Amino acid sequence: MRRALVAANWKMNASVRAIESFAAAWREPPGSADILFCPPLGYLDRLAAALPAGRHRYGVQNVATAASGAFTGEHAPEMAADLGATHAIVGHSERRALYGETDALAAEKFAAARRAGLTPILCVGETLAERRAGQARAVVLRQVDAVLAREGAAAMAGALVAYEPVWAIGTGETAAPEAAAAVHEIIRARVGRETRLLYGGSVKADNAPALFAQANIDGALVGGASLDPLEFAAICAAAGRQDDTTR
Ligand code: PGA
Repeated sequence: MRRALVAANWKMNASVRAIESFAAAWREPPGSADILFCPPLGYLDRLAAALPAGRHRYGVQNVATAASGAFTGEHAPEMAADLGATHAIVGHSERRALYGETDALAAEKFAAARRAGLTPILCVGETLAERRAGQARAVVLRQVDAVLAREGAAAMAGALVAYEPVWAIGTGETAAPEAAAAVHEIIRARVGRETRLLYGGSVKADNAPALFAQANIDGALVGGASLDPLEFAAICAAAGRQDDTTR
């Protein structure tokens, strides 16, 4: 059985004050879903200190490939682990689009996260142009295969893959549950039964239940809606409810 996981990707959104008000409003959601907070790394400690104890854990949004050294402005996965993180997002589409990260670099970061003892969350997904050109399946498989070729199937089994169609991120335009599920099915066939597959792209409390009802959607990677403690808790609760009934 794959337990659901819901991850908050806060992107570059945080402040001391915002963390205090988030923590004051946060209540542990009911249900069994794993909950992950990925704040900007510099705020990880502060968020962990502010949140009441619960079953949530912490992740980072990106990692450097090296463990230490002369890499100004970078953060090693070992540092994230040292601060208490257990997971690392790698290959997010914003990293790919804005910072030129390639499939090979995403795979290298996946490996670096594992070296530091972090569980990687590999993001994959096609752009609107790629979808329109009928390339969604090929793009997603190419992104998954870059990691499989480097790290192997066993490493993938212990990791997570987040399918995030680029056209659905931050746009309010979620993929229809069946359309998302069709891509999840393709990824599932490639990675096997153990890897947890998350969906990401404008997930909100109101569209989450229909997404989580799909067989191969094991949770969500949530951007905008994860900045609101009540909305995010509702998404976590929806994943937990689904766990209790179908998975
Ligand atoms: P969104 O972002 O929920 O704001 O669409 C998701 C993501 O980029 O991980």
